[in-house]
Amino acid sequence: MSKRDPLLTVKNLKTYFYTNEGVIPSVDGVSFQINKGEIVALVGESGCGKSVTSLSILGLIDSPGKIVDGSILFGDHDLIHLSNKEKRRLRGNEISMIFQEPLTALNPVFSVGHQIQEAILVHQAISKEKAKEKSIELLRRVGIADPKRVFKEFPHSLSGGMRQRVMIAMALSSNPKLMIADEPTTALDVTIQAQILGILKGITETLGTSILLITHDLGVVAEVADRVIVMYAGQIVEETDVFTLFQSPQHPYTKALLNSSPKMDLIHEKLEAIEGTVPSPLNMPYGCRFQPRCRFAVDDCKHIVPPLKGSNRHMIRCLLTDEVNEFEVKTCKKHLKAY
Ligand SMILES: Nc1ncnc2c1ncn2[C@@H]1O[C@H](COP(=O)(O)OP(=O)(O)O)[C@@H](O)[C@H]1O
Ligand SMILES: [Mg+2]
Repeated sequence: MSKRDPLLTVKNLKTYFYTNEGVIPSVDGVSFQINKGEIVALVGESGCGKSVTSLSILGLIDSPGKIVDGSILFGDHDLIHLSNKEKRRLRGNEISMIFQEPLTALNPVFSVGHQIQEAILVHQAISKEKAKEKSIELLRRVGIADPKRVFKEFPHSLSGGMRQRVMIAMALSSNPKLMIADEPTTALDVTIQAQILGILKGITETLGTSILLITHDLGVVAEVADRVIVMYAGQIVEETDVFTLFQSPQHPYTKALLNSSPKMDLIHEKLEAIEGTVPSPLNMPYGCRFQPRCRFAVDDCKHIVPPLKGSNRHMIRCLLTDEVNEFEVKTCKKHLKAY
């Protein structure tokens, strides 16, 4: 996909939840790669399996959930088969995470500086004084102008944006190779969101850290991602580089997502909601999972499970890619005539 070296390779990952109501195939045969120094966005509507994918990588799937198949290769290790102790070690060191709500991850009774300092001391055999200096340096790196003052602040006295910066500083304290950011800007207003995304991009550029950025917001994707993976109902339906995704999306679901995205100034037409609802995970439609909502669907889509296919640069899970494009061209021409 890229000339860069792979850092993380997920192959045929299946994470299911065994509930009283039945088996939920939250992640159902997902394969992708994250290369060194790359920002990969995982997008899709709520409930499509984005967080379960990231929790699977982090080794944080608990009962009734279980990884039932696949591999997650990181360096020489298959993360699925590590012991709990090894998983914890990896989470604190080489892979770090940032969540939507930093308050749940920060301890309210300690200053933010103290918490970053402690995180550094866990990983590095240095003096407290040195760790403090490094903490201040990390706070500066995430765009905090007065890091010495913020070092002494408590989490609740900071704004949402500042707290998220502190979380990023903390996530950086172990010099991770991979950061997983699950909806890191969803709770923030647009200006602050753009600043946080700028910081993430800067981290990748200066430190070479890879980022798996989980979001339901295509505006966020356009801002920072190198490559995009679109998920629907537990499966990848399209994967390509960010330019191709916005210039020539192929899967009907991606097209619908783009049409319904409120922040895309690329789209001047009236926004459409995606018709229909996400299928019940307990009762996935046969054939293509998007077929009940797809305006292009034909009979075959109900009977044939579409494989994810295409070139390394652009993968699509749709039986009708050519027909869909043909149709688009015709409708575009029709629109043109009307003007
Ligand atoms: N602890 C759980 N128990 C049962 N089902 C779960 C659990 N966590 C997630 N799921 C199921 O997995 C699906 C994917 O969830 P998730 O990955 O959190 O979605 P999102 O894409 O919004 O992050 C959900 O629709 C839900 O049905
Ligand atoms: Mg989620």
